[in-house]
Amino acid sequence: NTFVVIMAGGIGSRFWPFSRNNHPKQFHDVLGMGESMIQTTVRRFTGLCPISNIYIVTNREYAHLVRQHLPQLQDEQLLQEPIGRNTAPCIAYACFKIAQRNPEANIVVAPADHVILKEEAFTIIIRQALEAASKRDILVTLGIKPTRPDTGYGYIQYLTEEHGPLQKVKNFTEKPTLETAQSFLNSGDFVWNAGIFIWNVQTILKAFQENLKELAALFEAGSPVYYTQAEPTFIDSAYSQCQNISIDYGIMEKASNVYVILCEFGWSDLGTWNSLYNLAEKNAEGNVIDGNTLLYDTQNCIIKTPQNKLVVLQGLQDYIVAEYDDVLMVCRRTDEQKVKDFVSDVKAQK
Ligand code: GDD
Ligand code: MG
Repeated sequence: NTFVVIMAGGIGSRFWPFSRNNHPKQFHDVLGMGESMIQTTVRRFTGLCPISNIYIVTNREYAHLVRQHLPQLQDEQLLQEPIGRNTAPCIAYACFKIAQRNPEANIVVAPADHVILKEEAFTIIIRQALEAASKRDILVTLGIKPTRPDTGYGYIQYLTEEHGPLQKVKNFTEKPTLETAQSFLNSGDFVWNAGIFIWNVQTILKAFQENLKELAALFEAGSPVYYTQAEPTFIDSAYSQCQNISIDYGIMEKASNVYVILCEFGWSDLGTWNSLYNLAEKNAEGNVIDGNTLLYDTQNCIIKTPQNKLVVLQGLQDYIVAEYDDVLMVCRRTDEQKVKDFVSDVKAQK
């Protein structure tokens, strides 16, 4: 009864220009592991359920990339969205469709672009979560010990009275302000939401019906057409009507049956250049190099450039030097939050 839904529709714009609209980071081998992030993600789940129970939800624009990276999947396992409407519609589509196939399904929902270094520890946690979610009417999240007041994450405050691996969630706050994030960090009973969810299909359908009624009604109406030729037309129409909202704002902040498992499995959402810097192997000078380089007096840089271009750098410290396709970006590592602005400025110029 185990199913996996992999969310692969994001564009990873903080990773620009390496992550581009036409080739987002989940289709890259970001850490030089020999396979793309989406391939690693699927492999991580193959021991937990038959491959035919793994669904990928992505933009139609990326369907050809999914087929190319995951030729072992059947077309019906590839859920294509006409437009990005954030994670709530993505999850609603997948869960209502799975309910049609197996009304008792226990589902793991996971992003396609996270790094998990300790795969065994991860698998053990997922099994525990599935076990719990199959028996109780609860929404299970995975919590990571926070190390900085990052405003890009959801923060989960938990009650410590539960026994076993699950803690009851007191509060879920998606993307707080810096001030609030700092106070959460200081208080010591908060963890980051890893963005991986485990639940029984009936529990999540009920949560949609209670917290996002219209969205639930839209995708529930698809029951007669899922797995038929009429599905794409139905989905086009549903997406043209549905709201743009994440599962975190739409459900996790509001539901009262949320639980968290405190985890440690070498997790990173690899959201930014510096998170790559922290994870990747560095040379003696502290440089992370993926490219053909000749470096003089250059320290603590990330260099990600095409192999067929020799990059010569002199006297450069703490910079990101990244080239992909027709873009070369050179940006101070401490200013990496500006990357999002570059992307919108480039778009505006076009
Ligand atoms: N199919 C599809 N369609 N996938 C999407 C869409 C969409 O419209 N939007 C985002 N995704 C995918 C992304 O590719 C990513 O794998 C995942 O869904 C999460 O989306 P993000 O946009 O990366 O979310 P976030 O990083 O801002 O926040 C979420 O993840 C954090 C941990 O990394 C939240 O769940 C936070 O609470 C959490 O801390
Ligand atoms: Mg993310």
